[in-house]
Amino acid sequence: MLRHLMALLTLTLLALPMTAPAQTDPTSEAPIAGTSVDDSPATSTGRQTLEDILARQRGEDPANPVRSHDLGGDALQAPGMGPLGASSDSDIWRQIRFNDGDIRNSTLNPNGDVLIQTGGMWWEELRKGPLRTYGGWLLLGTIAVLAVFYLIRGRIRIDGGKTGTLVLRFKFVERMAHWVLAGSFILLGFTGLFTLFGRKYLIPAFGHEFNSVLLTGSKFIHNNVSWAFMIALAMVFVMWVWHNIPDKTDIIWFKQAGGIIGNKHPPARKFNAGQKIIFWSVIVLGVSVSASGISLLFPFELPLFSHSFDVLNGWGVPGWFGFDALPVNLAPQEEMQFAQLWHAIVAFLMMAVILGHIYIGTLGMEGAYDAMGSGLVDENWAHQHHSLWLEHLQEEKPGKIRPDPAE
Ligand code: HEM
Repeated sequence: MLRHLMALLTLTLLALPMTAPAQTDPTSEAPIAGTSVDDSPATSTGRQTLEDILARQRGEDPANPVRSHDLGGDALQAPGMGPLGASSDSDIWRQIRFNDGDIRNSTLNPNGDVLIQTGGMWWEELRKGPLRTYGGWLLLGTIAVLAVFYLIRGRIRIDGGKTGTLVLRFKFVERMAHWVLAGSFILLGFTGLFTLFGRKYLIPAFGHEFNSVLLTGSKFIHNNVSWAFMIALAMVFVMWVWHNIPDKTDIIWFKQAGGIIGNKHPPARKFNAGQKIIFWSVIVLGVSVSASGISLLFPFELPLFSHSFDVLNGWGVPGWFGFDALPVNLAPQEEMQFAQLWHAIVAFLMMAVILGHIYIGTLGMEGAYDAMGSGLVDENWAHQHHSLWLEHLQEEKPGKIRPDPAE
């Protein structure tokens, strides 16, 4: 009981995101709506001034303040010639861009008044380009590697076949938590991928109507099923953390490449070193994807990145990789953009890990699925893959080993 409480406490600490106070002040000092840095003049669209033209001729960049202070001015009040009065479309768009228009939104959040966010262009390009490309190839590459591995290694068989004696490997509550985790993860994975790739692949193939209905449903599922994932993640952590503390049996397991290559079967307790890697990946990536997901679920309320970047800069981390300091004065919209990218990158990594896990739990290893299906594994399987765990049961809990009633 004490162990479980300790585990719960550790999980709570792990899950505590590094929060900074919510940035909901739309009247920030930022020169351009939703942007923490000066806008690149190359993308500016303001009214030309003589200074602008001369600056360009000198090879200099036209200054933004010229544009941001030139939003139509008195001309807007002048009696009109056309439907827009003396103002023009450009004036209106410039006002919107520099957050000076009379904008009302239905989100009740003042940050929603930002309709044009020039500072978000890099994010949109990254999301449309490298994120989709590398993320997609990571998943396809993982499937290809697993297929090749299967062709070379084949299925890992139970040496000497089944004995007809069964060993209880996972109790009902363990299996339930596992399947809630797995089921929710699969739903989250598919709905997330639809959201990222729908516009590019589903619209051309099935049309706008189909994509719209699918994504509306996907968003609903994604937002709500996330809670089941987080609860199951916490349960799995509490139940299995003590079996996943690294110990010296892991060194032997690595030396023998886990018995996956070759025919040796290294000794292992309840979980071998490979499974410990899966477990810790699921916990660390799972907590991270959950934290960034909650930040996205409650827009602008839980900014994670300004503060985290500040901490990383303090440690000098960007310098280790030859980068400049990370930006710390992020506009609320930029916070959300970083959260979206991080959420997607971590999710891709986790999906790749889980593909490997699903492979070994089904096709890759004879007898493995039973552990999570019925909860009972054959004694020979237990001896082959978890010999120290089986010995422990034989000595301490012989009641968990019994003949197969079907035999
Ligand atoms: C269809 C999908 C899945 C199948 C068939 C499957 C199968 C299995 C099996 C058979 C085991 C027990 C291995 C043993 O007896 O030693 C297991 C354990 C585990 N599963 Fe899954 N699983 C699936 C999806 C997932 C997902 C999506 C997650 C996490 C998001 C997950 C996390 C874990 C963890 C942490 C363990 C314990 C460590 C390990 O055995 O690797 N599983 N799974």
